[in-house]
Amino acid sequence: MRSIVNILGAAVLLLRSVYALDNGVGRLPVLGYNTWNAYQCNIDEDLLLSTASLLKSLGLQDAGYNQLNIDDCYAEKNRSAGGDIIADAVRFKGGMKSLTDQIHALGFKTGIYSDSGWYTCAGYPGSYQNELRDLKTFSDWGFDYLKYDNCAIPYDEITREGIVGRYQRMADAVVQVQQSTKNNPILLSLCEWGWSQVWLWGKQFGQSWRTTGDIAPEWNSLANIINFNSFLTQATDFYGRNDLDMLQLGNGNLTFDESKSHFTAWALMKSPLLIGTNLSEITNETLSILKNNEILAINQDPTVGASISPFRWGINPDWTSNSSFPAQYWSGPTQDGTVFMLLNTLDKPSTLFFNLTESPWIRAGRQYSVRDLWTHTENGTAVRNFTAYDVPAHGVVALLLKDVGDEPDGIYPQCSVWWQCTDKNGTRVGG
Ligand SMILES: *[C@@H]1O[C@H](CO)[C@@H](O)[C@H](O)[C@H]1NC(C)=O
Ligand SMILES: *[C@@H]1O[C@H](CO)[C@@H](O)[C@H](O)[C@H]1NC(C)=O
Ligand SMILES: *[C@@H]1O[C@H](CO)[C@@H](O)[C@H](O)[C@H]1NC(C)=O
Ligand SMILES: *[C@@H]1O[C@H](CO)[C@@H](O)[C@H](O)[C@H]1NC(C)=O
Ligand SMILES: *[C@@H]1O[C@H](CO)[C@@H](O)[C@H](O)[C@H]1NC(C)=O
Ligand SMILES: *[C@@H]1O[C@H](CO)[C@@H](O)[C@H](O)[C@H]1NC(C)=O
Ligand SMILES: *[C@@H]1O[C@H](CO)[C@@H](O)[C@H](O)[C@H]1NC(C)=O
Ligand SMILES: *[C@@H]1O[C@H](CO)[C@@H](O)[C@H](O)[C@H]1NC(C)=O
Ligand SMILES: *[C@@H]1O[C@H](CO)[C@@H](O)[C@H](O)[C@H]1NC(C)=O
Repeated sequence: MRSIVNILGAAVLLLRSVYALDNGVGRLPVLGYNTWNAYQCNIDEDLLLSTASLLKSLGLQDAGYNQLNIDDCYAEKNRSAGGDIIADAVRFKGGMKSLTDQIHALGFKTGIYSDSGWYTCAGYPGSYQNELRDLKTFSDWGFDYLKYDNCAIPYDEITREGIVGRYQRMADAVVQVQQSTKNNPILLSLCEWGWSQVWLWGKQFGQSWRTTGDIAPEWNSLANIINFNSFLTQATDFYGRNDLDMLQLGNGNLTFDESKSHFTAWALMKSPLLIGTNLSEITNETLSILKNNEILAINQDPTVGASISPFRWGINPDWTSNSSFPAQYWSGPTQDGTVFMLLNTLDKPSTLFFNLTESPWIRAGRQYSVRDLWTHTENGTAVRNFTAYDVPAHGVVALLLKDVGDEPDGIYPQCSVWWQCTDKNGTRVGG
């Protein structure tokens, strides 16, 4: 029995050393930039280098955004005669290795893109049946990270496996390349739009997995993504997390308040935070959201990997799935206290109230200091409950509550959760 336990333990350790990386790679959500949402296929080496220098000059690198990812369309349409993916000879004329060297020299990690089928979503070579060859190419080119997409799926009579099997092939290639190079393994980011319940198995293979289709820069899209992921928060922890897709702050018709809600929800749900907008057009207002260091600190919490979760849906009954009106009241543990997110999903201002013990992370009979993570102010001490007045339409409140000792004596009711409240003498006083 003991030896079986030991063997299992060794196997788990081996897996951890490969996928879950004891050296910390992939332990926390990635912060950075991805080219797709702003540029689609209009990318070249100059754009990548100018994006890197903007991430620096705008202070985003200092804020923690240290990853620069190339999305689809960097390759030639055909592989080489020898079967390798080749970088576009015009747009990446200096070659990928030279580009990643320059990006690394600027202090960034850098990612590339491929697909688990015959072709990428934009029709460039996919990696099916070329997984190891392509991963070696990406490794030789100097990439640290691979976003792996799900277009152009081969016929069943060829694959004889499901979506898990096709991602397994690339995960195996990651292990093989890591073992031969002894470098850090290339981080896998699974992009398969929530098909096949990826939140149940994605952690075996990658540091993140997309759960929904592509984001659009409008409130309906944000509400839909938040609603869907509100039911999957338990899948997220260190080394593996729901990916809510790129940040669209200040883009499309998102208002300032909607952008703050977007950033708060993504960060506190521990999603990767990859900026997807044109940095040449970014406003100071948007930058101030992206650089909210108190919210980023929770996204990057070194001791708690869990996502926030809803404790009350608010305007709809608890557990209602409604893609326009997601849950409004959320909380989660952090290294410094309990964080709350209050989301006004209505299109008019509203006042949001909660009892502290509605959150499982709060101790009954204690009082809490309240830190507002958007105004960066101390907002007094909460006893039993907290009210946020006049939260703007589609706006957000983010609070960090810290235990500051026993609540004052004599507060009624005797139990903050009134159900079953009972005197020591056996008399039930609560409902
Ligand atoms: C690319 O491959 C296709 C299909 O194999 C072929 O028809 C086409 O001529 C090739 N294009 C170039 C530029 O080699
Ligand atoms: C902006 O908002 C409206 C809804 O008011 C929506 O129909 C439209 O498609 C939006 N999207 C963008 C990207 O402008
Ligand atoms: C990005 O912004 C710059 C500066 O406004 C503009 O010249 C460029 O066309 C934009 N690129 C895209 C793809 O929107
Ligand atoms: C944005 O902030 C920078 C740095 O603080 C400042 O130099 C610049 O004038 C601001 N731009 C606008 C449009 O306010
Ligand atoms: C979503 O919730 C809103 C607010 O309660 C409600 O008016 C709407 O009918 C719901 N939508 C669906 C599809 O249930
Ligand atoms: C908050 O607590 C009060 C007093 O115990 C109770 O009457 C009320 O129903 C609670 N509200 C919510 C939303 O839990
Ligand atoms: C909120 O808690 C205070 C005690 O701090 C209590 O007096 C008040 O009635 C509570 N409000 C509600 C609405 O439960
Ligand atoms: C916290 O206090 C600041 C400064 O007074 C205020 O602007 C903000 O609205 C308060 N936050 C909440 C949630 O009440
Ligand atoms: C038992 O507790 C109840 C509720 O606090 C109280 O009203 C009652 O007087 C107590 N009875 C005795 C015998 O102490």
